[in-house]
Order: sequence, then C-alpha cells, then structure tokens
Amino acid sequence: MTVHFIGAGPGAPDLLTLRGRDLIAACPVCLYAGSLVPEAILGHCPEGARIVNTASMDLDAIIAEIKDAEAAGHDVARLHSGDLSVWSAMGEQLRRLKAEGIAFTVTPGVPSFSAAAAALGAELTLPGVAQSVVLTRTPGRASSMPAGETLTNFAATGATLAIHLSIGNLDQVIADLTPAYGGDCPVAIVYRASWPDERILHATLETLKNAMDPKISRTALILVGHAIGAEGFDESCLYSTDYDRRYRPQTAESPWASWSHGDD
Ligand SMILES: C[S@@+](CC[C@H](N)C(=O)[O-])C[C@H]1O[C@@H](n2cnc3c(N)ncnc32)[C@H](O)[C@@H]1O
Repeated sequence: MTVHFIGAGPGAPDLLTLRGRDLIAACPVCLYAGSLVPEAILGHCPEGARIVNTASMDLDAIIAEIKDAEAAGHDVARLHSGDLSVWSAMGEQLRRLKAEGIAFTVTPGVPSFSAAAAALGAELTLPGVAQSVVLTRTPGRASSMPAGETLTNFAATGATLAIHLSIGNLDQVIADLTPAYGGDCPVAIVYRASWPDERILHATLETLKNAMDPKISRTALILVGHAIGAEGFDESCLYSTDYDRRYRPQTAESPWASWSHGDD
C-alpha cells in the first residue's frame, strides 16, 4: 500500500500531470484538499472510489483515513493544490507516514505562481531587470514568519516577488515594498489563475489600494517587481546572433567547435 501525494495544479482540471492523472485513476481512495482542489479533477477517480474532502479534517483524522486504507490494502491518492513543495502541509503528513512505516510517492504539480505568470503572459526573470523570484507570504492568523523572512528584506534584493496567502494584507505589502521598489513599481493581482472566473488586476504599488476589488478576498497571488509588464529589457545572450555557445559555435576556433551533443 502506498500514499501518492499529487500536486493537483492551480485549478484548471487539465493542468494536471499525466502521472498525477494516472495515479488518481489507479487509487481506490482519494483524499483531496477541497478548499482549493477543483472537483473536476475527481472525475479521474475510478468508479466506486472512496473520495474524502479533507478541508474540515485535522491531521489525526487524515492519518486515520490513511491507516484505514492501509488496513484494506488500498492505495491512496492525496491531492493538494498547485505544487506540493510550497504551502501544502505535506511535510507534516510525510513525517507521520514515515513514523508509521507507510510508503509514499510525491508527484509534482503546476504551482499557482506559474499559472499566474502564464495568465499575465509574463516572464518573471528578465535580463537586467530581475533574475530571481521569491515565493513568499505575509504572516497569517495561523502562521507566523521566521524572523529574517520579511518583505522588507526580500524587497532589498529587487527580485520579482510572488506573494501568496496575503490578499488580506495589502496595506502591509504596500507599506513594506514601496521604499525599495518605488510607488511606480508594477503589481499584478491574479485571482484564481486558470479557473473559469480568473481575473487580473494591473496596478502599481501607489495605485494598488484604489484599484483593488474588495470582492477578491482569497485565492489570489500578488506579483510585484519591475519585471511585471516590462518592455525595455535586454535580450538574453541565449539567442544573440554573435554569442559563442555550446549549441552554436561562432568560429572554428571556438572551444565549442569540437563538442558534440553526445559529450554531455
Ligand atoms: C495554501 S497556498 C497553496 C499554494 C500551492 N501549493 C501552490 O503550489 O501554488 C494557497 C495560496 O496559493 C495561491 N493560489 C493557489 N491557487 C491559486 C490560483 N489558482 N490563482 C491564484 N493564486 C492561487 C494564493 O495566494 C493562495 O492564497
């Protein structure tokens, strides 16, 4: 018996990996985090599967479900939204499973920040503008932040910020980021990226407060940085005509001239 943790993606049922889909189809038990995982994905469950929404359950109850499945010899598909590597609560479940000696696998999913960037048609790392993306959040009722992980510290890097779980903390976001990024710094709010009711708001740190729609109160990402919507950025060397590189040696003397694909 194995518990298969599966990243269910940002919302659209077809933004699920083929591996994830096939595992869901093969498991007689499916536990899904119903607050964000769309029900359409449950259509991949086999007929007669036991399907449990864990949104209202505590960790002990979830582990009890898994142990019941283990006793019956049933594999479990465990679905969380987006990817499992960030804010999935997978870590604490894995710790329990390891203590119980229960086998597991992990299948990644499309994270919401990627879906939000896709909705914007934006690359978050542009040459000369930003070469790092910080996935972060602000403190919430149930989650404090480690001391060094403040928005002001991240702002000092100038990186593109993908701020999760924080649409209710806009005042703090604006106050913490404006000194480093400037009031004219672009911001995009992406609500329910890839869902049928997806919405995008464009603003700057200065105009954000007025541009905000109070109806957007959850499941939204705040993307901040000068890479959002930038036009005047450098081209990368990757496709530059005269850039000497492994896949496109420029001269017979190039160190790459004698390299063949089989070498790597
Ligand atoms: C508990 S975290 C889950 C993150 C998820 N594991 C991921 O890979 O994106 C929930 C937060 O992720 C963001 N989020 C999740 N799905 C989203 C979507 N479809 N569109 C915009 N933001 C989303 C929101 O900031 C939301 O508050």
